[in-house]
Amino acid sequence: MKISNDGDIDVAKVLITPDRLQQRVSELALQISQDFSETGVALVAILRGSFVFAADLIRYITIPVYVDFMSISSYGSQTGIVRITKDLDESIRGRHVLMVEDIIDTGLTASYLIQNLRRREPASIEICALLDKSARRIIDLPIKYSGFDIPDVFVVGYGMDYRQRFRNLPYIGVLAL
Ligand code: IMP
Ligand code: MG
Repeated sequence: MKISNDGDIDVAKVLITPDRLQQRVSELALQISQDFSETGVALVAILRGSFVFAADLIRYITIPVYVDFMSISSYGSQTGIVRITKDLDESIRGRHVLMVEDIIDTGLTASYLIQNLRRREPASIEICALLDKSARRIIDLPIKYSGFDIPDVFVVGYGMDYRQRFRNLPYIGVLAL
């Protein structure tokens, strides 16, 4: 596989190959399709990082699925306070919501978003995260659907960026910073 070199920064190694990504994403989708077979599921994908994951995930889901997007930007690291730069287009009241995230690190962002979404009175709400840096967690947060537990390294690709670059990589790579 070609290792990306984007200007002055390199991807040091491939952490998760495209094949492993597809395999695991399809397993998550199977589980989700079984768990929500009676009710359908409303995916709320958090932009921008989760857009590639969400796009693959819905194609493996075999039950009625509704999709909406929310765009956020963090107010500086480790505060957990996020600014909603694009809100959902429709109400999630009474829906069975699955918040789709690229990566849960400290857990502050996801915990803030879950609190925000709960106030809109969904029938239920769970988290689906492609990656979990569980060793970095500072807030206890149940992640019902988790793709891969990864070590404390900075990853890019498959939607995730470093300074808005590398989102297009078809694999998850570790940056050589
Ligand atoms: P948290 O609030 O510490 O859990 O941070 C979560 C957010 O930080 C994610 O949604 C990502 O946007 C970003 N993030 C954390 N670790 C990484 C990484 O290794 N690569 C790219 N983005 C990351
Ligand atoms: Mg993110």
